[in-house]
Amino acid sequence: MKNENVITFNRPDDWHLHVRNDDVLAAVIGDTSRDFGRAIIMPNLPTPITTRSMATAYRDEILNQLPDKSKFSPLMTCYLTDTTDPDDLREGLKSGAYTAAKLYPAGATTNSNNGVTNISYLDDVFDVLSELGCPLLVHGEVVDDNVDVFDRENVFIQKILIPLRARHKKLKIVFEHITTKQAVEYIENENPSCLAATITPHHLSINRNAMFQGGIRPHMYCLPIAKREEHRRTLLRAACSGDEHFFLGTDSAPHTKETKESSCGCAGIYNSPCAISTYLQIFEQADALGQFNDFASKNGPLFYNLPINTELVTYKKENKPLVFPNVVIDADSVEVFSPPFNLYWKKATS
Ligand code: NCD
Ligand code: ZN
Repeated sequence: MKNENVITFNRPDDWHLHVRNDDVLAAVIGDTSRDFGRAIIMPNLPTPITTRSMATAYRDEILNQLPDKSKFSPLMTCYLTDTTDPDDLREGLKSGAYTAAKLYPAGATTNSNNGVTNISYLDDVFDVLSELGCPLLVHGEVVDDNVDVFDRENVFIQKILIPLRARHKKLKIVFEHITTKQAVEYIENENPSCLAATITPHHLSINRNAMFQGGIRPHMYCLPIAKREEHRRTLLRAACSGDEHFFLGTDSAPHTKETKESSCGCAGIYNSPCAISTYLQIFEQADALGQFNDFASKNGPLFYNLPINTELVTYKKENKPLVFPNVVIDADSVEVFSPPFNLYWKKATS
């Protein structure tokens, strides 16, 4: 008989993650390495990871902070700038120092000031990625004060993504942390083999009202910003469909309380401790646990051309809601994402 309170699936990977460095890295990395086999590590440190030697040093720093016996593997990315050296990128990708390259439109989000001001500067870089079959990861928002913050993803599709894909037909692209119906529908309608998207637990759980529930809620603020309920519902449908174009990427982005609860609070939601429990709760509610393994563990490696983790993990439903304590860093802390529903799915295997 089917036990509806237990689920077993291949160890998942996180295809979009921020772990920072120094004391924040030390405080947060265990929350990812416990639950995930691999993670695509975002390169937007205050001094961004722009060369393969920086990527290698950053990878070593992460490995040094892992708990004993951890088998977690960080997959590094190159932060693209207007002056990225295509040869350094090629060598980095070939040697495994990098798994992918990340495009931040300059000024789009946290630590993106060194990002790309005009993607036409990067045609040589896109040629290298196409030649090696390595993905370009895009923060898909235009940076334009004249474009409403809620429309920036849709305008990005029209103004940047469509022309880019027309110019570089073989370029593999991951449209990161999508938040709109337009993004889902663009991918579904095109049905391409070289375009996929990650979806976060928070964009599946909240709509934009969550930022204004009884007051301003800085811990619900991230970029791309949460949209209307109809968008959340479309993201949910895409994630729960099993469609190979959509896979797990938490965009877990730790910022201390001091920097979030401020007159100009940082964008980013920290969800690593509760990410799998949140996704499972959402899939259960959508009666889609049968598609969970595709979304969390299979579609990502298929797109990246990497093996699926063979290890199996089991989650069980507890009777009482789970509690995820905030992460303490010296005198400050990082608040863990709290979805507007209780979480019950707890890992049963080590
Ligand atoms: C991320 C961060 O804090 O680095 N913030 C966020 O709101 N998601 C950057 C990003 O992925 O946009
Ligand atoms: Zn991110």
